Amino acid sequence: MYLELKGISKRFDEANNGKTDAVSGVDLGIEKGELIALLGPSGSGKTTLLRMIAGLEVPTEGDIYIEDVRVNDLSPADRKIGFVFQNYALFRYMTVYENIAFGLEVRKEGKKEIRERVMELLKLTELTELKDRYPNQLSGGQQQRVAFARALATQPSLLLLDEPFAAIDAKVRKELRRWLRNMIREVGITSIFVTHDQEEAVDMADRIVLLKEGKLVQTGTPREIYESPATEFVASFMGDPVILENLKGFKGFEDIEDSSGDTQIVLRPEYIEAFRDDNPKFHDFIPVSENGIVRDIRFRGDSLELEIEVNGIRLRCRRSLERRGVQIGEEMRVLIYRINVFSPTGAEVIRNNLLHKVNLEFM
Ligand SMILES: Nc1ncnc2c1ncn2[C@@H]1O[C@H](COP(=O)(O)OP(=O)(O)OP(=O)(O)O)[C@@H](O)[C@H]1O
Ligand SMILES: [Mg+2]
Repeated sequence: MYLELKGISKRFDEANNGKTDAVSGVDLGIEKGELIALLGPSGSGKTTLLRMIAGLEVPTEGDIYIEDVRVNDLSPADRKIGFVFQNYALFRYMTVYENIAFGLEVRKEGKKEIRERVMELLKLTELTELKDRYPNQLSGGQQQRVAFARALATQPSLLLLDEPFAAIDAKVRKELRRWLRNMIREVGITSIFVTHDQEEAVDMADRIVLLKEGKLVQTGTPREIYESPATEFVASFMGDPVILENLKGFKGFEDIEDSSGDTQIVLRPEYIEAFRDDNPKFHDFIPVSENGIVRDIRFRGDSLELEIEVNGIRLRCRRSLERRGVQIGEEMRVLIYRINVFSPTGAEVIRNNLLHKVNLEFM
């Protein structure tokens, strides 16, 4: 285990004598070389947790170990950590070269070593041509790359990034996160990045750590978290589901019990299919599907999102752009493959129990 957090909490004192539990009892182990996304809504304690790992904030309770050594009392500089902040925090009056060299200068490394290391990082981050520019002469994406090179200069063994793409527009952001992912792989450095964007977490991370109100709710690979969410909070935070109290009258889901009355059912668009009666490919599914009426159609770039009313409930599903056009008000068939059910007794994935009766070969 490279990094280990044991029972980490942080309680802040408020000006009015109140207390805020920013982080509560977090236990977490991270292996060497892992790329971790720390995900959670605003105020869930992500930055506070990252700052405690970096040594910029002192935990109220708990211990932090790096390679089995307790580091609670080590200064940030002694933890061998590189930190990239949300707003890059580049030194405005230093060139790109000087920004990257800064940490090495502070350590009083030799001129020649510094030059070699900085040139190597400039090459790695594709900034060699821009080395004499000042931060205000760079685009957001370029500034972010400088921040990244600067964080790597002192050869840290752990890289922490707090919303590294927050200030970057959508298009560049996607490119930059691919670039960063490959770069982290190439360098092989253990990394934790904070984000409140689930798509970003899924796209980049080996493993996601999900926080809610300072507590760790679930950790797992993006796929595990997506397919087996531990709580209704996780299920609704990942993706864009519709959440219902019951599914009364839906074919294939008659067996769901709701004795307590606090069951929640999460329906993801990916597990719902809308088709027309005359589509031969779906002929077998007619008996296991419901009648619906298209209420809204939204263009999502790579697909259409249909909002379809079934039994008085509006469901959402995706439709490939290749398929026949759809009109608002049109009748369609709706098939629900599977749902996530959360009740006080636990989480369950329930499949449509009629599906085994039909031909599933094409799926
Ligand atoms: N220095 C501080 N003093 C008092 N309360 C604080 C302090 N820093 C953070 N908090 C509180 O701790 C909680 C967690 O804050 P934190 O910044 O860690 O959240 P976050 O998950 O990073 O949120 P965001 O996504 O908005 O950046 C919040 O309720 C915040 O108001
Ligand atoms: Mg934050």
